[in-house]
Amino acid sequence: MTTMMGHQQEHILRAVETVRKYTGITPRVGVILGSGLGALADEMTDATVIRYEDIPGFPRSTVHGHRGELAIGYLSGTPVVVMRGRFHFYEGYDMHQVTFPVRVMHALGCEVLIATNAAGGLRPDWPVGELMCISDHIFMPGLAGHNPLRGANDERLGVRFPPMLHAYTPALRQLAHEVARAQGTPLQEGVYVMVAGPSFETGAELRMCRLLGADVVGMSTAPEVIVAAHAGMRVLAISLVTNQALPDGSPANHEEVIEAGNAARPRFGTLLKGILARL
Ligand code: HPA
Repeated sequence: MTTMMGHQQEHILRAVETVRKYTGITPRVGVILGSGLGALADEMTDATVIRYEDIPGFPRSTVHGHRGELAIGYLSGTPVVVMRGRFHFYEGYDMHQVTFPVRVMHALGCEVLIATNAAGGLRPDWPVGELMCISDHIFMPGLAGHNPLRGANDERLGVRFPPMLHAYTPALRQLAHEVARAQGTPLQEGVYVMVAGPSFETGAELRMCRLLGADVVGMSTAPEVIVAAHAGMRVLAISLVTNQALPDGSPANHEEVIEAGNAARPRFGTLLKGILARL
């Protein structure tokens, strides 16, 4: 496992070179498919699929329910690169490894990142299956020192102190809501709090998350979004509430997360395709 600090640009270029040997398509949008959502990649046309282990610099995905493949092709006529399965901090990867694929997506030509994830719903009024457009995040591991931009900054990749106020691009959020409305799909808007995991939250932690202003809680996305924003990419992120995460509710488990992902897949997939058609 290599660490990316210091010579990240070389690693990125090597990965890009490898991907370009597989396909001549230049993707404009990078899509990260979260837990249980990977099958959307099956609907791509002209898709070339590359296993992560065949791309230099890519770690491997180890969690059940996450496939480890990059698919490059078209979705709704838009050239995309899709991550089927992402890397999580809780798997043991450092934040540079977790976010490395986003660097590669950008270097391949992507100007937009669409990230999806499974999340626990902190609001009692949001049932399992609710979709939420992320307006903002609270990045617990980042605030505690695990920011993916920690370390020497390579000015070729972005500035030292990038602003994050509008990391979740307002125009893309608006587009997502327009498409959702046209499809008759309810789409909420709210704040995602990222925790490191892998243990689910205690009751006190869930109360804290809610008090801090979060609407859903998950174990991904914030690092990737920071790196995308650092690179100047526009970002859209959507959470699927796969379980209610309530202090007095029933405990979360990984199986229900995967199940809820499967159940929401058609609706979520149609929404993503509708958005991609307009990018
Ligand atoms: N907590 C944290 N991450 C999650 C959850 C949860 O309840 N559900 C899906 N990802």
